[in-house]
Amino acid sequence: MYRTNTCGELRLENLGQNVILSGWIQKVRKFGGMIFVDLRDRYGITQLVFNQEINPQLRDEAEQLGREWVVQIQGTVSERSNKNPNIPTGDIEITVSMLNILNVSQTPPFTIENESDGGDDLRMKYRYLDLRRAPVRSNLELRHKMAFATRSYLNERNFLEVETPVLIGSTPEGARDFIVPSRMNPGEFYALPQSPQLFKQLLMVSGFDRYFQIVKCFRDEDLRADRQPEFTQIDCEMSFVEQDDILDVFEGLTRHLFKTVKGIDLPAFPRMSYADAMRLYGSDKPDTRFGMSFVEIKDLTEGKGFGVFDNAEYVGAICAEGCAAYTRKQLDELTDFVKRPQIGAAGLIYVRCEADGNMKSSVDKFYSPEDLKKWAERANAKPGDLLLILSGKTEKTQKQLNELRLEMGSRLGLRSKTQYNCLWVVDFPLLEYDEELNRYFAKHHPFTSPKPEDVALLDSRPESVRANAYDLVINGVEIGGGSIRIHNSELQKKMFSILGFSEEQAQAQFGFLMNAFKYGAPPHGGIAFGLDRFVSIFAGLDSIRDCIAFPKNNSGRDVMIDAPAKVAQEQLDELHLKINSVG
Ligand code: AMO
Repeated sequence: MYRTNTCGELRLENLGQNVILSGWIQKVRKFGGMIFVDLRDRYGITQLVFNQEINPQLRDEAEQLGREWVVQIQGTVSERSNKNPNIPTGDIEITVSMLNILNVSQTPPFTIENESDGGDDLRMKYRYLDLRRAPVRSNLELRHKMAFATRSYLNERNFLEVETPVLIGSTPEGARDFIVPSRMNPGEFYALPQSPQLFKQLLMVSGFDRYFQIVKCFRDEDLRADRQPEFTQIDCEMSFVEQDDILDVFEGLTRHLFKTVKGIDLPAFPRMSYADAMRLYGSDKPDTRFGMSFVEIKDLTEGKGFGVFDNAEYVGAICAEGCAAYTRKQLDELTDFVKRPQIGAAGLIYVRCEADGNMKSSVDKFYSPEDLKKWAERANAKPGDLLLILSGKTEKTQKQLNELRLEMGSRLGLRSKTQYNCLWVVDFPLLEYDEELNRYFAKHHPFTSPKPEDVALLDSRPESVRANAYDLVINGVEIGGGSIRIHNSELQKKMFSILGFSEEQAQAQFGFLMNAFKYGAPPHGGIAFGLDRFVSIFAGLDSIRDCIAFPKNNSGRDVMIDAPAKVAQEQLDELHLKINSVG
């Protein structure tokens, strides 16, 4: 028997028990005749003591022990004289009577403790060692809990988990596909799914009624903190439903996860239209943990000779509470922030609503205190507050103001990681116009249904057609998105034609779906949550990388197994592939 107990479970009530533990040596401390060892396993850390006075031979044997050696010990649970309140086993230690070295270890390249001295790259290269650290492991434990609670919630509601294939053809989700050459079909390729979208719709045609899958998806897109090339979706689809049915079930899932995993009861989720989200926050995923929503003041600024505002399509302000006393330096910092190329504003205008009622602004030359007071009134600014104003083209300026708002939220400590604000953003536009390519794209995907009341506009004003599409947003992060689908093959055909597919192209790419729709497709819709993002919100992480066991780095590389990598010429020949230039 390797162990009677784990390294995380012994307490004062176990005093005097003879136990066997197995684990890794985290730390060895020598104090004259005593050697103290921290023994670690998945469940915790237990202190071992080798005492010269009790067993000199064993104490000498313990002298050689090194970090990360794997050992088995037997001993008695004793009360510590020097208790450690920071760990659950901190009241006890094991007085060792038997030591069995199960394996030795090279000195690890970084310290394997809660705080490590290893940099990101080193820890990624030795990810299997990093995973021994409790904070990293606890993220994966949380992930397991969330996936498990999800399965149980959906199972109770009659959802069936069905696996869909990984070697498929291209799915039109908007990102680039990862492709896989087919040896048996020279010159032809599979694609890895960006999502199981088409298959889950086919399952509805097959009468499965309620489907889900916790499933890997693959997208070859530029990486960011909230994006990995392979990531996991909680992918769901339901038949005979309207938008409200889906929002109810999946608001229920979200609340269930918060309740069972974090013990938090959330209020009902507000719903905000896409148009309002853009108007008030300049983002389709507003962080609603704090206010500071936009006010438009273009009409109040006109005709006073300030060309920047006069020529702007949009003038928008946010009110930073209590910031009127910001120094010149702080204001310069904010100006530099909005002028960074990633944000791209030309400049920042401010109005200080000073505590004594005076108004001071960077445009005093053009506007009287009375003018400025009108702006302040509209923004609900009180004495002591600071107005920050950007102007320009509407959409671009709203996006810039969104960045500024988030920055101010962070500076003012309004974005606590332990506060959770969930909302549904609904009524997305169906289509998006790409100026460069001169054509429409589906904002969500081409199977999304227009709102029935907007269908008539498809021919005349396609850009103003709203979709039955929705996103779940938590703390400014898009956690999930979905839509009610088109289930009528004529409407689907029309959609493809608006998106610029010829009939042949549509047939070649989606013929199977359009054909399937001819055999009695039920009304259906669904949603997919990004599990990695969901877990990182729960864990308060800055990057989804930290809740993935073996993630890729920012260049899409797995530095541990060193992938992607070159392959042998024979392998390429077998696949009928020629590499033109190898970098
Ligand atoms: P969508 O493309 O919105 O919808 O994706 C759903 C959710 O998946 C997560 N996500 C990602 N997470 C990590 N890395 C990525 N690269 C990444 N890309 C997306 C996000 C997102 O909200 N088939 C539709 C769903 C549907 O209509 O039912 C779909 O995939 O959290």
